[in-house]
Amino acid sequence: MHLVTKPLLRVLGGEAVWPPPIWLMRQAGRYLPEYRAIRAQAGDFIALCTTPALACEVTLQPIRRFRFDAAILFSDILILPWALGQGLAYKEGEGPVMPPLRDAAGIAALDPGRVAAAVAPVMETVSRVRTGLLAEGFAATALIGFAGAPFTVACYMVEGHGSRDFAAVRGMAYADPALFARLIDTVTEATIAYLAMQVAAGAEVLMLFDTWAGILSPSQFRTQVIEPVSRIVRALRVRCPGIPIIAFPRLAGLMLGEFVRATGVDAVGMDASTDMTVAAATVQPSVALQGNLDPLALVAGGKALETETAAILSVMRGRPFVFNLGHGIVPQTPIDHVARLTELVRAG
Ligand code: CP3
Repeated sequence: MHLVTKPLLRVLGGEAVWPPPIWLMRQAGRYLPEYRAIRAQAGDFIALCTTPALACEVTLQPIRRFRFDAAILFSDILILPWALGQGLAYKEGEGPVMPPLRDAAGIAALDPGRVAAAVAPVMETVSRVRTGLLAEGFAATALIGFAGAPFTVACYMVEGHGSRDFAAVRGMAYADPALFARLIDTVTEATIAYLAMQVAAGAEVLMLFDTWAGILSPSQFRTQVIEPVSRIVRALRVRCPGIPIIAFPRLAGLMLGEFVRATGVDAVGMDASTDMTVAAATVQPSVALQGNLDPLALVAGGKALETETAAILSVMRGRPFVFNLGHGIVPQTPIDHVARLTELVRAG
């Protein structure tokens, strides 16, 4: 018999493990001096994501410091559109920049045929991390592979950069639904293939980041978020049976319950605006919840960190739960606050 002993995998299987497993979104990142050193060595962010020795190293850095229950592949959600042939650069202080995709010709130029070769280094990273975790004594740490959910990835592809409201994207979805559907379709199919490759390379859990899900009207949320995520989940259930899937439909608000029931995900990530008591009442107890400490409470530390953490733990005790932040850790986070948080969570 195969015994599942990694705490994260047990929780995603529906068990209320206590104290809960913990990992943090963006746990490999600029708040760590050892990350900044490797980042400087790589020079360019895409080079860091596509150099397996370096990407593996930064994936393992936060595990060595904090023994998190999950390692998350070091890459970015925009590596997939880059692999499809869209240009991509990360500008200092500006974030990702891509040539905006606004017409049928641009969408037709995306080439799923080049993805496998382009992401081969990412798969090499996945397999190195899996081996590295065992070699360094982290047998209880699970490896998470990920992709952006199609809507959020399309946001950057169409807009060409970050935005507060992604007006060009929402405008295109209303004005030319057939064109926007072709883009979402292309990204959805590529995402299924990309995630299945990560599982074949050694990922034990998959996560879909839908950072901008919450900017949509309910009808658009159903079409652009629930539909493509459901398609991805259905396809992966066939191609990668038994692989747990976490979704993070940020700011889904009142759409949360419908999202979870319709997509059939194993776990759902909550942003910091969600009242976990409401989430627990909305989401059936067999589905794990993940979240949702405000990253700025972690920056503040002290009493605020203790109070906010205790409130989340007291509500989540007794149901399948994974402790995390409500969004990515920010660069100004003091490292000793992260250590303190792991102590608080592990004390249950
Ligand atoms: O969580 C992890 O540690 C794994 C790696 C990871 C990164 N990005 C590394 C990264 C993951 C899972 C992501 C997801 C991601 N990327 C999302 C969804 C989650 C979220 O945070 O909302 C989004 C929207 C992106 C797109 C992206 N990549 C943006 C907007 C930026 C710029 C903002 C910033 O923090 O600089 C990035 C760059 C990026 N991706 C960095 C890291 C560590 C910082 C780049 C650097 O080191 O210079």
